[in-house]
Amino acid sequence: MKFLILNGPNLNLLGQREPGVYGDESYDTLCASLSDFAAAHASTADFFQSNHEGALIDRIHTAQGVYDAIVINPGAFTHYSYALLDALKAVSIPAIEVHISNVHRREEFRHKSVTAPACVGQICGLGLYGYRAAMSYFLETGK
Ligand code: DQA
Repeated sequence: MKFLILNGPNLNLLGQREPGVYGDESYDTLCASLSDFAAAHASTADFFQSNHEGALIDRIHTAQGVYDAIVINPGAFTHYSYALLDALKAVSIPAIEVHISNVHRREEFRHKSVTAPACVGQICGLGLYGYRAAMSYFLETGK
């Protein structure tokens, strides 16, 4: 499978940013381990992180016809970006939304995802393992 792994604002600071919430692994380490995981399953993974909503939307548009599955952590855009919701709905690539932290144990505003309705499902609170769990779902179900 060809995976596109998307990360939204502030996720470039993984490892430095609130390590009590997001852990101490860096974004680069995460990408390397997901790349290895994909390769071990005869798959590939491309990565894109942006702090800009439009850049994420553009990347979703150009994914059409290229990738089999999207794994997306939209960061704070999760909670209010209808534009990202529409971008995910505009392409016919299945997506899973991942949150490193358990958003339901945190502030009220994090409990709502406006982007999840465009996704097959949502994984939260499993730390960085959530990205692999999402990839495993696609690998095992083939959809
Ligand atoms: C997050 C949760 C969001 O509420 C937050 O804005 C993030 C990260 C997570 O991975 O737990 O940036 O998506």
